[in-house]
Amino acid sequence: MKILVVGSGGREHALVWKLHKSPLVKKIYAAPGNAGISKLAECVEIPSEDLTGLANFAEKNSVDLTVVGPELPLTLGIVDEFQKRNLRIFGPTKSAAMIEGSKVFAKEFMKKYHIPTASFKIFERPDEAIDFVKSSDMPLVIKADGLAAGKGAVIINDVNSGVSAIQKIMVEKIFKDAGDKVVIEDFLEGEEVTILAFTDGKTILPMPSSQDHKKIYDGDKGPNTGGMGAYAPTTIVDDRMMKRIYEQILEPTIVGLEQEGRIFKGILYAGLMLTERGPKVMEFNCRFGDPETQVVLPLLKSDLTEIFMSIAEGELSLEEVEWTDDFAVCVILASAGYPDKYEKGKEVFGLDKIEQGEDVLIFHAGTKKEGGKLVTSGGRVLGVTAVDKNVEDAIHKAYASVEKVRFEGAQFRRDIGYGVRRTKREYF
Ligand SMILES: Nc1ncnc2c1ncn2[C@@H]1O[C@H](COP(=O)(O)OP(=O)(O)O)[C@@H](O)[C@H]1O
Ligand SMILES: [Mg+2]
Repeated sequence: MKILVVGSGGREHALVWKLHKSPLVKKIYAAPGNAGISKLAECVEIPSEDLTGLANFAEKNSVDLTVVGPELPLTLGIVDEFQKRNLRIFGPTKSAAMIEGSKVFAKEFMKKYHIPTASFKIFERPDEAIDFVKSSDMPLVIKADGLAAGKGAVIINDVNSGVSAIQKIMVEKIFKDAGDKVVIEDFLEGEEVTILAFTDGKTILPMPSSQDHKKIYDGDKGPNTGGMGAYAPTTIVDDRMMKRIYEQILEPTIVGLEQEGRIFKGILYAGLMLTERGPKVMEFNCRFGDPETQVVLPLLKSDLTEIFMSIAEGELSLEEVEWTDDFAVCVILASAGYPDKYEKGKEVFGLDKIEQGEDVLIFHAGTKKEGGKLVTSGGRVLGVTAVDKNVEDAIHKAYASVEKVRFEGAQFRRDIGYGVRRTKREYF
């Protein structure tokens, strides 16, 4: 069969890598893809937001299944567009993707279905939001309603920064109409974890838990990024905690969406805080996370293409999804300046010195080929994933490969995976 993968990051490279292993797959297209993906797939120059262009391409090239990486095409309704044209696609419909596309919708949905989350208020007027901040205890979290490329959530510790965040989001409109409304919620203390789950809208199969390192510097210092590394599974989500997450969060979410006629077939991403009072949802995403995908997919024993086909057909079953007992860690190499303005066009050296295999994988994010050379073309450039039976060995193996990669100004964290060494606490 022929598969089209939409997107161009490390997540999509990991998806293409795993799909490519399937004996069912004859050909993979990636739109638009990147230099790493181009080794396994034919890259086509269609932007991931061009829904009509993508559907036309799938039709013309008899694509059997389309897999969407990023959130934007999903919230724009790519699944609805493909289904209208009888093209098989993997992902939630536009109305179900709102669980990520609107934080106001997600919070009200969670309240309605008693899904644990931080207490919150919603504001449509900046003056009312400011009054609320002035009369509340700190810290608080202010979030723009719509998509803001991971920059729309601000933690505030004093009134002034709250006022300034509200001004920027609601008055200056730095995120355009994504800032028409804001959610202001309580700050949650605890350990942050990601739970991804396969779902066909009825059956829900959680993947191994993972933890993403969002801050740019070691020790979780500095500004937030798209993610500087990840590891899976996390020791803090044991079987008991996973059962609780399933019963209190994943199941009521999928059941609630179904009750509202919002068809969610795809990947549900629950961004959770494990607090002293149990797991609470910080946000939902309607697709795989990046870099979490780069550590979770290497732990999957089963055929991903078969799983996606079953989901698209609405017949996912437990027997289909098997995981190894291994541990995976991924270290991201980023360009100088990232997450602010960053440099591009730097030649990447050293990849040929890395012995790649099933236990050491290089996933490209911001790379391209220029005159026969591999050069940087994005903020996050590469992810190096290592897999091993043992945590320490996996971390060691990942860094041994990271050290071989060279490009001018390359930055990476040296403490990825450290969270796994933290002593396990009891959460109630
Ligand atoms: N209620 C909260 N309490 C503590 N930290 C939070 C809270 N909400 C969000 N955060 C922090 O902010 C980050 C971004 O928030 P999130 O809701 O995931 O929005 P987005 O990913 O769309 O930017 C989270 O990963 C988490 O670290
Ligand atoms: Mg998030």
